[in-house]
Amino acid sequence: MNKAIVFGATSGIGYELTKILVQNNYKVAITGRRLEKLEELKAQFPSQIIIKQNDIQQIEDLEKVFFEMVEELKTVDLIVQSSGVGFVNPKLEWGKEEQTINTNVLGVTKLYTLAYNLFRKQQFGHLVGISSIASIRGNRSSPVYFSSKAYQKAYLESLYFKTKTIKSKKVFITDIRPGFVDTPMALGEEIFWMVPVKKAAKQIYTAIKKKKRVAYISKRWRLVAWALKVMPARILKQFT
Ligand SMILES: NC(=O)c1ccc[n+]([C@@H]2O[C@H](COP(=O)([O-])OP(=O)(O)OC[C@H]3O[C@@H](n4cnc5c(N)ncnc54)[C@H](OP(=O)(O)O)[C@@H]3O)[C@@H](O)[C@H]2O)c1
Repeated sequence: MNKAIVFGATSGIGYELTKILVQNNYKVAITGRRLEKLEELKAQFPSQIIIKQNDIQQIEDLEKVFFEMVEELKTVDLIVQSSGVGFVNPKLEWGKEEQTINTNVLGVTKLYTLAYNLFRKQQFGHLVGISSIASIRGNRSSPVYFSSKAYQKAYLESLYFKTKTIKSKKVFITDIRPGFVDTPMALGEEIFWMVPVKKAAKQIYTAIKKKKRVAYISKRWRLVAWALKVMPARILKQFT
């Protein structure tokens, strides 16, 4: 049986992906702050799910919880980092900016480092980060969310570069970049090409099986990413 840890499994993408992993013969340790949601998933698959309540902003606790899960699973094949927050914050209210940095940057960096170091030690493993199409350029209404996703994209790419120093060549890094997925997180007023969360989770699982370096969810967002990359800021300014 394969073994996985999913951070941010209490709702949305992490929740649906956990169900797919269990159905595909994974034992999964799941995390998030909402204990009742973790218990709800465990009740559906009691023998295949381990639950650990955690807040990734509390980085010392996060380390403790991480190693508890590793000890229970013994070895870990896959770590999915799906936890995150995002706000539309045009007035740049500091509380929202700070919460986003503490979750999407501080907590997520701690997670990435724990995962990478574990996999380096094991000489195998697959880290999957859920960044976003938002990682490509800036945005007027949610500067900190878009910046946090750009940070995650760069960090995941850096970890990918670091894998060249791993002798076994069996450590993989995947950056999943969704457009809009139908979860509480879908940000903004002009939402289009929204993908149902179950469909998004299926596509993410396919990308995991193929050990993709980068995957856009759905695929058509790759075109948007390309257009965003080449568009001069003075033109993008008219649309963002
Ligand atoms: N939905 C979209 O349109 C979209 C698009 C691009 C990228 N994404 C990214 O996809 C990822 C998953 O989002 P989603 O759409 O599935 O949204 P979601 O349903 O709101 O899920 C977010 C998850 O993050 C967890 N989380 C948030 N803060 C946490 C904290 N401090 N400690 C531990 N867990 C925390 C939540 O659990 P608790 O609240 O129980 O802690 C929840 O399980 C996010 O990184 C998001 O940025 C989403």
